[in-house]
Amino acid sequence: MKITVIGTGYVGLVSGACFSEFGHTVTCVDKDADKIQRLLNGEIPIYEPGLDGLVARNSAEKRLLFTTDLKAAMDGAEAVFIAVGTPSRRGDGHADLQYVFAAVEELAAFIKSYTVIITKSTVPVGTGAEIKNRLQGLLDEKLYDVASNPEFLREGAAIEDFMRPDRVVVGVDSDAAKKVMNALYRPLFLNETPILFTNLETAEITKYAANAFLATKISFINEMADLCEKVGADVQQVSKGIGLDKRIGNKFLHAGPGFGGSCFPKDTRALVHSADTYGVPMRIVRSVVDVNEKRKIAMAERVITACNGSVEGKRIAVLGLTFKPNTDDMRESPSLDIIPALQKHGAVVHAHDPKGMSEAKEMLEDVTFYDDPYGPLKDADALVIITEWNQFRALDLKRVHSLMNKPVLVDFRNIYSKADMAAEGFDYIGIGRGK
Ligand code: UDX
Repeated sequence: MKITVIGTGYVGLVSGACFSEFGHTVTCVDKDADKIQRLLNGEIPIYEPGLDGLVARNSAEKRLLFTTDLKAAMDGAEAVFIAVGTPSRRGDGHADLQYVFAAVEELAAFIKSYTVIITKSTVPVGTGAEIKNRLQGLLDEKLYDVASNPEFLREGAAIEDFMRPDRVVVGVDSDAAKKVMNALYRPLFLNETPILFTNLETAEITKYAANAFLATKISFINEMADLCEKVGADVQQVSKGIGLDKRIGNKFLHAGPGFGGSCFPKDTRALVHSADTYGVPMRIVRSVVDVNEKRKIAMAERVITACNGSVEGKRIAVLGLTFKPNTDDMRESPSLDIIPALQKHGAVVHAHDPKGMSEAKEMLEDVTFYDDPYGPLKDADALVIITEWNQFRALDLKRVHSLMNKPVLVDFRNIYSKADMAAEGFDYIGIGRGK
């Protein structure tokens, strides 16, 4: 099958590469000529484990093509995926759909035979219907259908999530579109992956509901962690105790510094906003957003308390800057709230991240960056672990201790045990782990 993917950001590139791996011929289009040239040269603009190999193999086999020429890309395509950005609109959090609508209106001119136009970007409920409205008069109704096929890809595990998903959700309202979508996902269908066909609105809401539910679990356990700290309980055991109940499940119950990334913060805000426009207040999700935003800022206070009430002139070592491990993505990372708040209180910040430093350098000021995890530790008055990269799970603790001015460890991801750290002579502060 011949398909086109518009937008070579995270979602577009991963989806395009994976569809080509299924055997389809995929043309990825982007307006950014420099990005397309880099992709043609075999350079991958994002860090995602496994993506480079997949792109190289399928490009070499001519199943994965890159171009800036939308007209050429649309020639003979049976399906076109819209995978352009839907950033939070400044001020109200509403998903900004200008790039989605611009792409649809532009591609309409190049559709000459039946094509399914599919939204892959996360778009608020009603967007599919609005796309149909905008196409009226631009394109003969017989030449197209609109479908919604939300992605559920985790950064750092996106290839695995695409190739072996828990489910595929497809919103369609015609048999012809359903047939095309079935053909696209045939390899997964043969694997017995559940493929859920719904109407457009249901698929659009399913995406937001999934992200909002997972974000709710995180904010829930984060608040439990705060209570655990006050009463001498251990939130990790609470997570285990509730997670073993199959109705609850053990996933997304790790307490931490608050969720970040390109999806949860943006999508929860967008859901609250779009539900408001329908007169249906999302009270729970609104609280989740609020708890999370306040939490990220409040994390700096923990570091200040660990440093006996002041970080003025103190040297703080930070390990981990990205919003989670195995990505170079800094979007809405807790580090972007914690580090400036510490600096505001006079801290001098030295940091390391395995993949995120080039992006972090653009987003954080007055931070000294090091290429190895021990660099920031020299003469540090506290070590703060913000992201749980595997590299930080087995640090040489004797070396860490000897490098630091004061052996204070604030572990926002609970990757170390309190007892072990006490035995190594550290003053250890985790999240939700007793007094
Ligand atoms: C998420 C969804 O998982 C994915 O299905 C969707 O399509 C896009 O958004 P992603 O943003 O890549 O994926 O990361 P995810 O692994 O879900 O983590 C999101 C944030 O939640 C991170 O900041 C992470 O540190 C935090 N988190 C996650 C926790 O604090 N605790 C947890 O138990 C799980």
